[in-house]
Amino acid sequence: MKEQLGVLVDQLNFSQLFVLCDENTKEHCLPSLLNAMTSLGQAPKVFCMKAGESNKNLETVEELWSFFSENYADRKSVLLNLGGGVVTDLGGFAAATYKRGIQFVHLPTTLLAMVDAAIGGKCGINFHSFKNQIGTFQHPKEILLYTPFLHSLAEAEWQSGKAEMIKHALIADLAMWNRIKHFRFEEHEKWSSLIKNSARIKIKVVDADPLEKGYRKVLNYGHTIGHAVESIFMKKEKPLSHGYAIAIGMQIEAYLAHLVCGLSMSSVQEIHQYLTSHYPKVNIEAADRADLLNFLKQDKKNEAGLVKMSLLKEIGKPNFDQTVSFEQAEQAIEWYLEK
Ligand SMILES: NC(=O)c1ccc[n+]([C@@H]2O[C@H](COP(=O)([O-])OP(=O)(O)OC[C@H]3O[C@@H](n4cnc5c(N)ncnc54)[C@H](O)[C@@H]3O)[C@@H](O)[C@H]2O)c1
Repeated sequence: MKEQLGVLVDQLNFSQLFVLCDENTKEHCLPSLLNAMTSLGQAPKVFCMKAGESNKNLETVEELWSFFSENYADRKSVLLNLGGGVVTDLGGFAAATYKRGIQFVHLPTTLLAMVDAAIGGKCGINFHSFKNQIGTFQHPKEILLYTPFLHSLAEAEWQSGKAEMIKHALIADLAMWNRIKHFRFEEHEKWSSLIKNSARIKIKVVDADPLEKGYRKVLNYGHTIGHAVESIFMKKEKPLSHGYAIAIGMQIEAYLAHLVCGLSMSSVQEIHQYLTSHYPKVNIEAADRADLLNFLKQDKKNEAGLVKMSLLKEIGKPNFDQTVSFEQAEQAIEWYLEK
């Protein structure tokens, strides 16, 4: 890390360095960052926010802005965001808006942030009960990937990031999908090259369509059904992790891809078998299925009463803006439940 930081410190023409971390990254990741900084002759000022999604809000942003003000941050100050997606989303937003924008660098510390949240320039906060309601597109000056940060990550957090890596392989890289299938997820230390590959896939998609006008939508594979599944479990107060819900979404949407754009049934089975072995099947009770369809009916991507999804025509070849009827969605949900 010292080497990567050294290059960065030489490149950035800054007046002051700030670090944003949360309670957990303060304990597990900040010491090695500060060590590296000390040996480079730097002593950044550190702001620690409370951990968790519920703190990705305006109140935390205001506290961070106040910290900047109290410490005379100017337009040449640089913020280093040391954390998962909550820290990178919120830190990016606070930096992008302070004094009309100061530079920031992401040092993602969760698998999800390394392969997804830190990449693509979307930063923002939740507002009232709406997720990511306030935000902006602003890219970090740099993203530093330091995989040893992951050593302290809880298993549930690995599960979340893993689902996004599987998605990247399915939408863009058949060879990576074949590698993932033979990997033992427990062997975390061997994941470094897959993580970098996965991050590269997201960068490539984002570069092709930075403002999500079209092609970037392929990143939504698994997410339309996944969000609806996440919502019904949240409503039942038995929350399912985002990654788990996306893993279910990818299976149901694989079957939909078979119905709508010709994904072969053997590929559907392959995706299903692999995902259920890592994300064991959950039951969606009959009473909740109507709710699930209702959530789909409210999806913000819908057009003229039809659901729009990103599906696969083959593994590694996505199609966005695919029209799916509610009957087809219902049929695919039944297929998943009967498997
Ligand atoms: N901007 C985007 O494009 C984008 C994409 C996907 C997700 N997101 C956002 O990302 C957020 C989810 O990100 P997340 O899953 O990283 O959640 P998170 O930031 O809440 O991190 C999960 C938990 O792990 C802890 N943690 C982080 N790093 C750790 C480490 N190295 N060791 C031990 N504990 C550690 C955190 O404190 C937290 O408790 C959501 O808010 C979501 O909206 C944004």
